[in-house]
Amino acid sequence: MKKFITIVGARPQIIKSSAISRAVSGKFKGQLEEVIVHTGQHYDENMSDIFFNEMKIPRPKYNLNVGSGGHGAQTAKMLEGLEKIFQDEKPNAVLVYGDTNSTIAGALAASKIHIPVIHVEAGLRSFNKMMPEEVNRIACDHMSTLLFTPTKTGIDNLEKEGFSLENREKADMNHPVVFHCGDIMYDNSLHFSEVSAEKSGLMQELGVETNQFILCTIHRDSNTDIPENLNSIFRALLKIQEQSKMQIVLPLHPRTKKKMEELLTKELAEKLANNTAIQIIDPAGFLDIIALEKNAAMLVTDSGGLQKEAFFFQKPCIILRPQTEWVEIVENGNAILSDFDETRILAAYKTLSEKSDYTYPAFYGDGKAAEFICEQINRLIE
Ligand code: UD1
Repeated sequence: MKKFITIVGARPQIIKSSAISRAVSGKFKGQLEEVIVHTGQHYDENMSDIFFNEMKIPRPKYNLNVGSGGHGAQTAKMLEGLEKIFQDEKPNAVLVYGDTNSTIAGALAASKIHIPVIHVEAGLRSFNKMMPEEVNRIACDHMSTLLFTPTKTGIDNLEKEGFSLENREKADMNHPVVFHCGDIMYDNSLHFSEVSAEKSGLMQELGVETNQFILCTIHRDSNTDIPENLNSIFRALLKIQEQSKMQIVLPLHPRTKKKMEELLTKELAEKLANNTAIQIIDPAGFLDIIALEKNAAMLVTDSGGLQKEAFFFQKPCIILRPQTEWVEIVENGNAILSDFDETRILAAYKTLSEKSDYTYPAFYGDGKAAEFICEQINRLIE
């Protein structure tokens, strides 16, 4: 039996991990053993626990409880705790997801003591090193032994950075192997889409109807922490609501809620508070968010996950960022990059709501990425 440790910490990783855990306890039972370690980067009930419960993810064997903090302090606490766990557990490999501080800490702690790193969601680039996530991704890829990219673009990026695409029979830290396997979040969206229709009562609770509302999330530090940017986004949302009469549902990250209180102008905060068609709610669980995504008329978001889920559920999307790692959906006309700019957000809304000839090619695989990843771990990790 091969044992690997999975590192989760931030909300998207917890969600992503459920696909691999299902494969390990299903098709790979008796062949692979997974030990889950939670760094504690996200700790609020609706940023962490809710996903373990509703997605039936096995409980972490360890939780480092690092909590919030600056990048240095947060990552350093994780490194120290993870190294000790790796030494005690002696896994054959460590699996990390995505691009957060938990990802880089897991990859760095493992590679320094010569444990092979498996990076799921490798190869994505925004080409903007001002994003902490971009730095985390690049560093993590270059420490990894098995790299799984969700898209063809991911493979191309890795090749340009010097990775060989040869399909080797052996992999080690000096001879990494790269695979294009599709997106495990597509696996999850397909799997939970049916369940969510039955279980989520959120739309009813909010009084919103199919195709009559816009779903919006905002949490990137570049949007939340700079006063002009945060005000610009909310001015645009208010205008969209007033002009279109659509309802707007905003499940907000705790970071954004705090920053809104500090940084929105008094006038804008009052207008938002007085507009009952704009509903700010707590961060939603995965079943609720899927139910909202499937029924929304459009998504407006700076989340990497939501912009792609918009595509899975065939909804147009305004991306509140200057660039994206998921370039396919922009190039194919399913989404528009608006950054935080009020005028660009309003123009994107007009373009997307008037467009009718949308297409949805299979950019993100066949919904079986997790099984493919487990097969390769089984084959290549010693
Ligand atoms: C992190 C990831 C980001 C990912 C996002 C998903 C990094 C560098 N960024 O950003 O890539 O898209 O998670 O959600 O790792 N907070 C709470 N409760 C919580 C967690 C956070 O109140 O459970 C607040 C704290 O004030 C904290 C702030 O949110 O300081 C930011 O949290 P942090 O984990 O540092 O970054 P995220 O913005 O969540």
